[in-house]
Amino acid sequence: MAEDLCISNGGKAEKYQTLLPQIKSLIEGENDLIANLANISAALKETFGFFWVGFYLVKGEELVLGPFQGPIACTRIRKGRGVCGTAWAKAETLVVPDVDAFPGHIACSSLSRSEIVVPLIRENGKVWGVLDIDSENLNTFDETDAHFLGEICSLL
Ligand code: SME
Repeated sequence: MAEDLCISNGGKAEKYQTLLPQIKSLIEGENDLIANLANISAALKETFGFFWVGFYLVKGEELVLGPFQGPIACTRIRKGRGVCGTAWAKAETLVVPDVDAFPGHIACSSLSRSEIVVPLIRENGKVWGVLDIDSENLNTFDETDAHFLGEICSLL
């Protein structure tokens, strides 16, 4: 396993393209889910410097906080609540350019201004968790993030 993350100097797409094979090889030889989610959070945080990167895992009717990088966060989110709970309920990626304009947004930190949430979906279509990334700036995430983060999530 590589010990240092290689980060492209290029734009966002180039950064993701450089990151993707490294994440593949990081998780390839490891079957422990928590270890892999932890390393993916760290690799995304280190590459992009996002404010908060982490996973919530479905446990019963709630999402429960999993491995993350960033400030402490809410531990439980009910289905349909906030951006994470809505992405779970709809089983689709949500890009939120301004969290204040998202009805029911859960403010774990007042510094979070925009957000993307990508659901983790089993082959049977059931959501088993979400990847949540928060930014301190407005309009941070777009289709490029949705595409590459979806690819990263499909490796799990
Ligand atoms: N903002 C999220 C809650 C999780 S924290 O941002 C880490 C939401 O509304 O789902």
